[in-house]
Amino acid sequence: MDKLLITGGRPLEGAVRVSGAKNAALPVMAATLLAPGVHRLRNVPRLRDTQTFARVLELLGARVSFEGDQLTIDTGDVNSVEAPYELVKTMRASIYVLGPLLARFGRAKVSLPGGCAWGPRPVNLHLAGLRAMGAALDIEHGYIVGRNVKLKGAVIGFDVVSVGATAQLMMAAVLAEGATVLENVALEPDVTALGQALIACGARIEGLGSRRLAIEGVGRLRPIDTTIIPDRIEAATFAAAAAMTGGAVRLEGVVPDHCEAALRKLEECGCTLWRGADEVTVACPGRPQPVNVVTQPFPGFPTDMQAQMMAVCAVAGGTSVIEDTIYFDRFTHVPELARMGARIELKGNVAVVKGVDRLYGAQVMATDLRASASLVIAALAAEGETLIDRIYHLDRGYETLEKKLGALGAQVRRVH
Ligand code: EPZ
Repeated sequence: MDKLLITGGRPLEGAVRVSGAKNAALPVMAATLLAPGVHRLRNVPRLRDTQTFARVLELLGARVSFEGDQLTIDTGDVNSVEAPYELVKTMRASIYVLGPLLARFGRAKVSLPGGCAWGPRPVNLHLAGLRAMGAALDIEHGYIVGRNVKLKGAVIGFDVVSVGATAQLMMAAVLAEGATVLENVALEPDVTALGQALIACGARIEGLGSRRLAIEGVGRLRPIDTTIIPDRIEAATFAAAAAMTGGAVRLEGVVPDHCEAALRKLEECGCTLWRGADEVTVACPGRPQPVNVVTQPFPGFPTDMQAQMMAVCAVAGGTSVIEDTIYFDRFTHVPELARMGARIELKGNVAVVKGVDRLYGAQVMATDLRASASLVIAALAAEGETLIDRIYHLDRGYETLEKKLGALGAQVRRVH
């Protein structure tokens, strides 16, 4: 099992090019099931998750080739509708194939995703929406099974803003019979980008960027040909690393608007930011100031940056309060940061972080994707060496992280 060995204390300096967004690529990969033919996706990050999703598609009968950052997916010969537990349990986003399979083939057998490292991840909104569209879905031995489904348009309101359920129902609705209205949808750039990719294939979607989508089903779609948007969470993670180490980093190939809430929070910490059309420079001369963080659906502060921001607050000059309103139990990074000397008191879904003068290197364990990123950031600023175990979690969502950090002057080495 790979580990990362990091020697802290060096300010990050230089430029880094941000990869395509994992959370934008995965739903678009699922959407290739909606139309037979050869689909082309550019700027796709080479990650465990995109490779896992490619395997799910191949199991369904698609032909997938990954050259550089270009994915070519031929779904003309898809001949299975089963997404097996072995794969779905490693990546819950596999559930995205459910809607497209029902929309195109009228049947599906998709494993219920398990929980994840920090707790349950329900899919009730996905199932309720598809059932509202006429899909009779049964749960049989841990699988979601749909047979003889003919999706019809419906009016669906989400009690909770859900990225996944919005993407799922959008994909189901574009081929359904008649009109669908989705109320209280997620506005994450990943969702808007999916909608734009579908419109480019002939889908009829009104209201992208608003909380209400009106979708008119069509008979068929053309194959997708799209470029995946940059990863706003990767960009914000590097910005947090710059803040943590008192460095100056230029993030290249980003969309500043996609990570505005996180960037503004770093400005509150005392960082100076310069925003360009597709780049942001983050300079952080001194010790971060304490801040209060409450995670919200986009355009609010993203839950996917909560753990990374906690690392920055761990060395701030004062006390910060961090509340995660999206996931109440997404705090597995807290005990690991504490092993490095962080002083964090957790009360339910609120963490009170008393900044310390410095963190100390230690042996720590990655538990999930963004918790791992938090440990990397902490290690970059800690005194001495940190050995992070189970970094396959990192490899799920960050492409060649140690190379990118090394190019910014960090002392990072992958040890087997
Ligand atoms: C997406 O997960 C992201 N994953 C997550 O990023 C991200 O943390 C999350 O959105 C929130 O922004 C991908 O895009 C692949 P949700 P998703 O449905 O779609 C509740 C990462 O680090 N909910 O928006 O699963 C849910 O429990 C990953 O890259 C239901 O109650 O998240 C949560 O409280 C981790 N029922 C809230 O909604 C449902 O059917 C938001 O979850 C679905 C969700």
